[in-house]
Amino acid sequence: MSHFVIPNHTVVGTNVLSEAAPLLKKMGNKAFIVTGRHVAVSDMMKQLTALLDENGIDCVIFDGITGEPTDTMIENGVEMLKSSGCDFIIGIGGGSPLDSAKAIAAMAVNEGSIADYNGKEITGEILPLAAIPTTAGTGSEATKFTVITDSEKGIKMLLKGDVLVPKLAIVDSSFTVGTPKSVTSATGLDALTHAVEAYTSRKAFSMTDTLAVSAVKRIMKYLPIAYKEPDNSLAREQMSIAALEAGICINNSSVTIVHGMSRPIGALFHIPHGMSNAMLLKECLSFAVSGAYEKFANLGRETGVANDSDSDETAAEKFIDSLQNICDVCEIPTLEQYGIDRDEYYSKISKMATDAVASGSPANTVKEVTVDDCIEIYKKLYV
Ligand SMILES: NC(=O)c1ccc[n+]([C@@H]2O[C@H](COP(=O)([O-])OP(=O)(O)OC[C@H]3O[C@@H](n4cnc5c(N)ncnc54)[C@H](O)[C@@H]3O)[C@@H](O)[C@H]2O)c1
Ligand SMILES: [Fe+2]
Repeated sequence: MSHFVIPNHTVVGTNVLSEAAPLLKKMGNKAFIVTGRHVAVSDMMKQLTALLDENGIDCVIFDGITGEPTDTMIENGVEMLKSSGCDFIIGIGGGSPLDSAKAIAAMAVNEGSIADYNGKEITGEILPLAAIPTTAGTGSEATKFTVITDSEKGIKMLLKGDVLVPKLAIVDSSFTVGTPKSVTSATGLDALTHAVEAYTSRKAFSMTDTLAVSAVKRIMKYLPIAYKEPDNSLAREQMSIAALEAGICINNSSVTIVHGMSRPIGALFHIPHGMSNAMLLKECLSFAVSGAYEKFANLGRETGVANDSDSDETAAEKFIDSLQNICDVCEIPTLEQYGIDRDEYYSKISKMATDAVASGSPANTVKEVTVDDCIEIYKKLYV
């Protein structure tokens, strides 16, 4: 690998939104803002619309993203965008509104339904896109990916295209201060999963390795603090930086087995994305580790849970144990504790395993992953 793609401009830090004004001004005169109901009525939205107003930028707000995005929500957004007269798009919110902004931008200039683009590269001259995350998790502000549910097939589609990388990422960690514990844990563990998967992916290379190690170290140190002290501004800033670093990593080195197996759980059981990753983390990586002992061992040594006298195998296992520890600190439930019915779960394992492998993500794992392997791992989550 040698191709490294990032947003044209990134503004990152605490209380940095206003610094992005000149960049927003260059993007157009009327913004189509994509968001969810909660963010639409928040102080964050007030700050954004006031900034646009001060800079003579008109806007229209689409707040129809009422959870993780579906094809239907995207169609509604496209319809509103086409009649709005807007010349650029701003996604503000968690990964769901950011992904939706990308999908709406793409489907405004492409034929057919978004599901037609599953497995293909999305192209086209899309409107300029700015992304403002309000969670420290997905890193969608820096990625070419958009995850949209095909409501007919019950599949969370991983759609991609370099044109979807936002032109401008505004990562203002003040937006994440005070986020509820459940959102902090799920989104923070999503970012951790991104960094670990990208570092141990077949597609990993020098440019992403550096950022991945940095993100893992920040998250192991600061996620427990952000979780226990929701108003801790330093921990929030470090988590926002880590999520951005991890987003850049997956954009260039991809995710692997955990995300591949997490999307089917999300699609069928509506568990928040980061939480289903966390539920899978230990079992998936315990499976994958024998293909990449050295990489997992490096993470163990870099984070201080292992040292130079440990063999790679021991250091790697210590690191995977430390991942389970941080999930425990963040009070991640089991499927059973989350209230999933065992029989229903078992009846879906075969479809989930097939969909996981079909998504392509498990194939990025260094160790080969088959449908049968996924079936065995899914079973281990609910004995
Ligand atoms: N595009 C990518 O590269 C990429 C990567 C990983 C995941 N994803 C996708 O992103 C989606 C998940 O995104 P997410 O984890 O950010 O969750 P989300 O966007 O669904 O938000 C989760 C909840 O947090 C709330 N919320 C958001 N910001 C808040 C704030 N500042 N304060 C209080 N509440 C707030 C939202 O209203 C919502 O209820 C999934 O669909 C996942 O598959 C995309
Ligand atoms: Fe993710």
